[in-house]
Amino acid sequence: MLYAQITGWGRCLPPARLTNRDIMEVMDTSEEWILERTGIETRRISHVMSADLAHVASERALACAGVQADKIDMIAFATTTADEIVPNTASLLQGKLGATGAACFDLNAACTGFIYAFQMVSDMIRTGTIKSALVVGSERLSSLMNWKRRESAILFGDGAAALVLQASTQESGFFQGKMGCIENTRELLAIPDYGLHAIAQHRPLDITIDFHGREIFKNAVNEMANACTEVLERSGLDLKDVDLIVPHQANARIVEALAKKLNADPEKIVITLDRYANTSTSSIPIALCEAIEQGRVRPGATILMTAFGAGLTWGALLLKWGERIAPLGESSIELPATDKTGLELIKEAIRLRDKVWHDKK
Ligand code: COA
Repeated sequence: MLYAQITGWGRCLPPARLTNRDIMEVMDTSEEWILERTGIETRRISHVMSADLAHVASERALACAGVQADKIDMIAFATTTADEIVPNTASLLQGKLGATGAACFDLNAACTGFIYAFQMVSDMIRTGTIKSALVVGSERLSSLMNWKRRESAILFGDGAAALVLQASTQESGFFQGKMGCIENTRELLAIPDYGLHAIAQHRPLDITIDFHGREIFKNAVNEMANACTEVLERSGLDLKDVDLIVPHQANARIVEALAKKLNADPEKIVITLDRYANTSTSSIPIALCEAIEQGRVRPGATILMTAFGAGLTWGALLLKWGERIAPLGESSIELPATDKTGLELIKEAIRLRDKVWHDKK
């Protein structure tokens, strides 16, 4: 029997921080409102593209696994902020890594992207189709934000993380999962012009997030709770058999409501949203990497992950950690340096946005 063991892990958080107080300089909000309603204190803002964040995270994951890039059979790149749509960002990452033997694809299931990609790729390893893969989540959502929309712009941050999966006969890795998408909820979270619509309708580009926070909130809690319950039931496990829960990091109140619904021990839940906010598809692998670094992942641990996102997509999965919790090696790679603050980067993004819109109108 083959398993898809996690043998490497790495993350990349850009250095520039944007605090709630900083955001007060560009919109009508308050530190208290953001903290109370979301649990977010600060987030990272990237000065580089999604593929660059992914590159650093991937080099770290490969070094951790002790695997050469050219031995990777597949790169699954989950993102909603692809550097370009054609060709895909996975092939850009392939070139940066020298992963010459890899098949490459991008996957967009919004914040649930990593859960989708991880399950699909794990199953390909378990059935023997491929022997190794890099599953990457990378996002630069700050460049998509409309800083006039205070209900959404405060929520997101940038970052990436990657896992190396390898075929193994040791019982470990993904073993149960459930994915779905609630029909007719597309308008609850959408960027209508982030595709061909504006071109087809001969309109100027207007990239703005349509966002119905309360509705998303309710759906998120219900669907994640149902998905978690189903994967546990199908595995014959109870929540007390789970050692660690890694939920999507959208809002502390969503995580609390989910924990309450599942009757989960808060001590088992990994939280990073206070420092990194919602990094969309990257949030789960970033949180997993942090939990490993903090010694919260034990050999043989059972880990439950769950997410939801635009679509509205949702998913949950269970995995069993292997024996090794220490990296085999470390990469010295770093992002190119920047001396810009998060606020400076955001002000630049706002200026660019105003200019592009002005020019098009
Ligand atoms: N600062 C200050 N006030 C704000 C604000 C901000 N950044 N954003 C919204 N408000 C105001 C609203 O205008 C509203 O004011 P009103 O009552 O005078 O109309 C009030 O705060 C309450 O707004 P509401 O949307 O009901 O707040 P909420 O408690 O539902 O919290 C979210 C809003 C967005 C934080 C919350 O709904 C949420 O986290 N939703 C899901 C997150 C999500 O979708 N993430 C992405 C998908 S993974």
